[in-house]
Amino acid sequence: MMRLLTVLIGLALLVPVAAAEPSSQVAFDVPTLQLLRAADPARGEALAKEKKCSKCHGDNGVSEDPEDINIAGMQPSYFYKQLKDYQDESRDDRDMLKQTRDLDDQQMADLAAWFAAQQPLAPAADRNTDPAVLRLVYEGDPQRLIKACASCHGQQGQGGQFDSPRLTGQYPEYFIYTLTEFKEGDRYNDIYGRMRTIAEALTEEEIEGLAGYYGAAVPVLLTNMRLWSRFLANESVL
Ligand code: HEC
Ligand code: HEC
Repeated sequence: MMRLLTVLIGLALLVPVAAAEPSSQVAFDVPTLQLLRAADPARGEALAKEKKCSKCHGDNGVSEDPEDINIAGMQPSYFYKQLKDYQDESRDDRDMLKQTRDLDDQQMADLAAWFAAQQPLAPAADRNTDPAVLRLVYEGDPQRLIKACASCHGQQGQGGQFDSPRLTGQYPEYFIYTLTEFKEGDRYNDIYGRMRTIAEALTEEEIEGLAGYYGAAVPVLLTNMRLWSRFLANESVL
C-alpha cells in the first residue's frame, strides 16, 4: 500500500513537470546570435544543392507547386529555429526530421543565411482585403485576446524579430494547414504558445481569409512552364 502511495505521489509530482516542458530548445542568446551572424550563405547554397532541398521547396526556396512550402526570404533566426526544432522533434515532421538529422548547428545557420537572402514571392494581386480580415491583421480583436498579426509579423507581413516569420508570399494551402495545426495543438513549437493561443481563437473562415490576404499567387511564368512541359510531353493541357 505504502509503495503504491509513493508511486502515485511520484506520478502526481511528475505531471506538472512534464506539462512545463519548453516548446523549443532554441534561445536567441549571444552564442546563437553570433552563430547566425557569422553564417556563410555560400556554404548554405552548396549544402542546399547537395541535400536537394529544391525537391520539395523549389529552386531558391520558391516552389512551383502551391501545395509545397515557400522558404525564401525568411529571417535566418526563424529559419534556424525551425531546423533545430525539427531535429529534436519539438516540431514534428518526418520529412524534415530526415533532412535535419545529420546537420550540425553551423550547417543549419549556413542554410538559414542562404535561404534568407533569396527573393520571396509577392502577394497575389487579388489578395483578400475584406475589412474584417484587415482588422485582424492591423488591429486584432481585443475581445478575444487576438493581437494584431502585424504587431509580430511586420506591417507588410515581412517577418519580425527573432522567431516571428515572414507570412507574405506563402502559399495559402500551407498557411491554412499550419495555422490549423497550431489551433489543434498539433504544432506546438511556438515559444510561450503565442501562435497556439491566437489560432485557437480564430475561426476556420478567418484563417482562410487571412491566408487569402498574405498568400502568394502561383507565379504565372511557372504555371505557363508547367503547361508547356505537359504540352511538350504530349499530354492534354485542357
Ligand atoms: C521530402 C520533402 C522535403 C525536403 C527534401 C525538404 N523539405 Fe523542408 N519541409 C518539408 C515539409 C513537408 C515541411 C512542412 C512540415 C510541417 O508541416 O512542419 C517543410 C518545412 C520546412 C521549413 C519550415 C518552413 C516554415 O515556414 O516554417 C524549413 C525552414 C525547411 N523545410 C527547410 C528545408 C531545407 C533547408 C531543406 C534541405 C536541407 C529541406 N527543407 C528539404 C519537406 C521537405
Ligand atoms: C505575439 C506575436 C504574434 C502575433 C500577434 C501573431 N503571431 Fe503568428 N507567429 C508568431 C511566432 C513567434 C511564430 C513562429 C512560432 C515558431 O514556430 O517558433 C508564428 C507563426 C505563424 C505562422 C506559421 C508560419 C510558417 O511559416 O510556418 C502563421 C501562418 C502565423 N503565425 C499567422 C499569424 C496570423 C494570421 C496572425 C494574426 C491573426 C498572427 N500570426 C499573429 C508570433 C505571432
